[in-house]
Amino acid sequence: MKRTLLVTSALPYANGDIHLGHLVETIQTDIWVRFQRMMGHDVTYFCADDVHGTPITIAAKKKGVSPEAMVAEISQRHQRDFGTYGIQFTHFSSTGTSINRELAEDIYLKAVHADAIECRSIEQLYCPNDGMFLPDRLIRGTCPKCHAVDQYGDSCEQCSAVYNPSDLIDSRCAECGTPPTLKSSDHYFFKLSHFEGIIQEWLKSGHVQVEVANKLNEWFANGLRDWDISRDAPYYGFKIPNTVDKYFYVWVDAPIGYIAATHEWALANGISGIDMWKQPSVEIHHFIGKDILYFHTLFWPALLYVGGYQLPQRVNVHGFLTINGQKMSKSRGTFINASEFAEHFNPEYLRYYLASKLTLSIDDIDLNFEDFGFKVNAEIVNKIVNIASRLGAIIHKHCDGHLGTIHPSGDALVTEIADAGDRIARFYDGVDTLKATREIMALADKANQYIDFQAPWSVIKTDPDAGRDICTTGLNALKILAIYLKPIIPSIVAGIESFLNCPSLTWEDRYTRIEQCRIQPYHHLAQRIDPATISRFLANRIPSETAV
Ligand code: MSP
Ligand code: ZN
Repeated sequence: MKRTLLVTSALPYANGDIHLGHLVETIQTDIWVRFQRMMGHDVTYFCADDVHGTPITIAAKKKGVSPEAMVAEISQRHQRDFGTYGIQFTHFSSTGTSINRELAEDIYLKAVHADAIECRSIEQLYCPNDGMFLPDRLIRGTCPKCHAVDQYGDSCEQCSAVYNPSDLIDSRCAECGTPPTLKSSDHYFFKLSHFEGIIQEWLKSGHVQVEVANKLNEWFANGLRDWDISRDAPYYGFKIPNTVDKYFYVWVDAPIGYIAATHEWALANGISGIDMWKQPSVEIHHFIGKDILYFHTLFWPALLYVGGYQLPQRVNVHGFLTINGQKMSKSRGTFINASEFAEHFNPEYLRYYLASKLTLSIDDIDLNFEDFGFKVNAEIVNKIVNIASRLGAIIHKHCDGHLGTIHPSGDALVTEIADAGDRIARFYDGVDTLKATREIMALADKANQYIDFQAPWSVIKTDPDAGRDICTTGLNALKILAIYLKPIIPSIVAGIESFLNCPSLTWEDRYTRIEQCRIQPYHHLAQRIDPATISRFLANRIPSETAV
C-alpha cells in the first residue's frame, strides 16, 4: 500500500553553523526519507531554521548585526552544508515567516478558548543595566552545593546539581556582570495537565520507542507542570495577541514551524498543507535528539491537539554524538563543523559511518576516527567498490565491456541477496540502520567469497565464457547491494549505476538481472581514507584556550 509520509528533522537554531551533531539527525532522517521514496511512497521532508529567542539576539549583538541579517546569512550556510551532505529536503524554511506567525497565533487563541492559558505574576532575575529579564543561561554565579565558581543559572557543570537561579551565590548577569535584582511580571502559562489524558493515550499506542515511553512515564509520575510560554520584551519572537509587550517563548513557534514549512511548500504547489496535518491518511514522522524529547512528546502533542491537528504517527529519538569518546566541545577541539569535516572527508563516508551506528536506542553514539577510517576502507572500499573495479577490469580487458549471463555456480547467491531485500527493508523502515548495514555487509562478504573462490581472472584465460559469466554474476550481486546502500551513500551508488548502465535503481529492481549488455569502463568510485589524513585533521584541531 502506498503511504503518504510527512517527515521532519528538528529545526537547527540560527545562531551557529551546522556541526556533526546536527548531521546525526538530518542524515538519519534523510536515509529514512530516501528509503521510503525508493519504496514508492509519497514522501515530503520539511525542516527550517529556528530563528527566535535570546541566544539568537545575543549572537547577533556579538557580531554587530541585526538578528534578521544574521539569521538570513546563517540560513544560506545551513542550506549549503545540508546540501553538501546530500540532505534532500522538500522545503527548508524559517520559523520567522508570517505564515508561522499566523499559525502560532491561531493555536494560541484556540488554547485560550479551550481555557488552557492562565496569566499569573512571577518573580524573576532581572538585569537593571541591560533592562532585561535573564534566562537561566545568562546568569552566572557560584554553585550553592559545591561552591564551584562561574556556573550557569540552572545547573552546575562541576557537581551536576540543579537549582533555581535565585539560589546561586554571588549571581550576576553573564553579559555585563551586574548583580541581578528580583522583579515580577505577568506570564502566560499553558496548562499542560489539561492534556494529560490525551497525551497518555497517544503514548500508549506505540508512537515512541519503549525507552522513551519509560522516560515519559517518570515525568507523568512526577505530575505535569504548567508551561511558561511568554517572555517579556525585549525578546526576538512573535508578539502574543492581545498583550502589549509579551512574546511567545521560542519553543511555542518553533515546532509550529513544521506546519508552516509544509504550508508554504503546499501553497506553492496548489495543495493544502494544513490539511496534510489534519488527514489521518498522512503519517507525520518527527526525528529529534533526546535533549528535546520533552518538547516533542508533551508540549507538542498538546499544542497540536488544541489546534485541531492530528498527533504525530511517530517521534523518533536518537542519542548524542560524541567525538573520540568525548562530548563535543570547542575547548577540547571536538566540536566539528559540517563544512570543515567535508573539506577532508567524503560526506558520504560520514553518512555510512553514522548509519552503521544508529539504532532505535537513545544511547549516545561515538565517532571514533580510527574506527571511522577502518570501517569505511574495510566496508565501502574493500567490500563494495572493489567488486566494481576488479570485475570491471576483467570485463573490459577480455570481453570488450560486454556482460554474459549469470553463471550457474552463482545463481543461488544472486537469489539469496535479492531475497534479503524484505528483511533489509524492515530494518530501514524501523529506523535500524545498524542492522541494515550489517546485513548488507554480510551479503557483500558472500559475494566477495564467491568471486575469490571462482577466481574469474584465471578462469577467463582457459574458459572465456565461464570467466565472463562469473564476472556477470559478481556484478549482478553488486547491483543489488548498491540498491540496498542507495539511501545511505546515494552518490557513490549513482557512480555504480552509471558504471553498470542501470540508472535510477529502485528497490524492486533487485529482481531484474543485468545480462548480455554493455557496462561502462570503471572510473574511480571512492577513495580509501588515508590514516595520515585523519592524523592531520585531528592534529590541526589544537584545543584553543579562548574558544567558548
Ligand atoms: N531549535 C531547537 C529545535 C526546535 S524543533 C521544533 C534545537 N536546535 S539545535 O540546533 O540545538 O538542535 C537541533 C537538533 O540537533 C536537535 O534534535 C538536537 O538534539 C540535535 N543535536 C544537537 N547536537 C547534537 C549532538 N551532539 N548529537 C546528536 N544530536 C544533536 O534544539
Ligand atoms: Zn546585564
